[in-house]
Amino acid sequence: MKTRTTRALRCSATLAASGLLLTACGSSGSDSGQSGTASFEGRGPITYVAGKDTTGTVQPMLDRWNKLHPKEKVTFIQLPTDADAQRQQMIQNAETKSDAYTVLSVDVVWTSEFAAHQWIDLLPEQRFPLARMLKPVVETAKYRGGLYAVPASSDGGMLYYRTDLLKKAGISRPPTTWAQLTADCPKARKLPEAKDMSCYAGQFQKYEGLTVNFSEAVNSAGGAVTDANGKPDVDTPAAKKGLDFLVGSVKDGTIPREAITYQEEDGRQAFQSGKLLFLRNWPYVYSLAGKSEIAGKYAVAPLPGLNGPGSSSLGGHNMALSSYARNKATALDFIKFMTSEETTATFLKDASLAPPYAGLYDDTALVKQYPYLPVLKESILHAVPRPRVVQYGDVTSAIQREAYAALTGTKSSAQALKDLQKDLQQSAAQ
Ligand code: GLC
Repeated sequence: MKTRTTRALRCSATLAASGLLLTACGSSGSDSGQSGTASFEGRGPITYVAGKDTTGTVQPMLDRWNKLHPKEKVTFIQLPTDADAQRQQMIQNAETKSDAYTVLSVDVVWTSEFAAHQWIDLLPEQRFPLARMLKPVVETAKYRGGLYAVPASSDGGMLYYRTDLLKKAGISRPPTTWAQLTADCPKARKLPEAKDMSCYAGQFQKYEGLTVNFSEAVNSAGGAVTDANGKPDVDTPAAKKGLDFLVGSVKDGTIPREAITYQEEDGRQAFQSGKLLFLRNWPYVYSLAGKSEIAGKYAVAPLPGLNGPGSSSLGGHNMALSSYARNKATALDFIKFMTSEETTATFLKDASLAPPYAGLYDDTALVKQYPYLPVLKESILHAVPRPRVVQYGDVTSAIQREAYAALTGTKSSAQALKDLQKDLQQSAAQ
């Protein structure tokens, strides 16, 4: 075991010296550490640890498992909704080598870090139907070519908009560029029922959601956070255009001031209660908004960009097995259950979560319920991954710090990008 940790960390250190490589330390699979595969033994009670379930669909699924496995029951441990807080608690659990957490719902951006530290086990690939899943989604669960988690739900950012108000204002289709979005708002606000509404919100609080939204703005302007080789490349005119869209939108009120405090749930509430015309959010909002006062009055479109449709950051959650857990045989079966096509189809039907299985996006009945599925599939296939690095915690803190400084006006966009480039280079060199 020790050899594996040392090798993995040494590997990331070598990488660090050469820059923030996107796929840390090769993904050929030739040295995937298969010899380190844990023995999955022990049956009995387990826990499932994930961010707070805002959809209300997780416990019913666990009840289904518990009914089938009365001697191997799973208990749901819900962490905060904030992705950074979830990461902190999972790391704390691992650092104390606690067996309190068994199966972890890990954000796609934590795979390299958790795997390199051996906080999660290398999993037997052949036990999961990965070939039927979207390829970029499976990649999010791999580190050094080995499978360290199994895709459970993917995520692609989408633009939610008020169909009723746009139509009434004479706008025939949703905006594909930022300029159109900015111009659509005053038109819609001329309607008496929209005069007090705000224009646009995303996730701009200082946490992982800001890393997502900042990266999307940069990528949607033709820039990048890291180049094709994984090296920091954010101090560019294109990246500045992306950040300037966000900063300019806060200044001119397109993004309301209070949206700087928004995480996913705050934006969803504002959109559902009729306070927002446009919202950048994940697919889970689609189903919940359908049960709100704006039911039947919204739709989704691809994210807009500088000169045409933008690109989303690749989000999502995978199921990993804590290295310090007990009852790993049960845990493996539970991961299989939670990531099966049947379970993920249920989460799609009941909670509009993006499934990892390619086929579900073309299923006629599902597309009838969720007409945006083909668009979402494309968005996921072309989504830009956040840096896949062991030192992801440092990378995301630097992005959050600099993007927030620019949004709140403490730094110019140019200075923030310059400082960010330096921070990213420094963290790569550690
Ligand atoms: C969603 C995404 C995840 C992302 C997070 C940011 O949960 O699935 O990948 O990091 O939002 O808030």
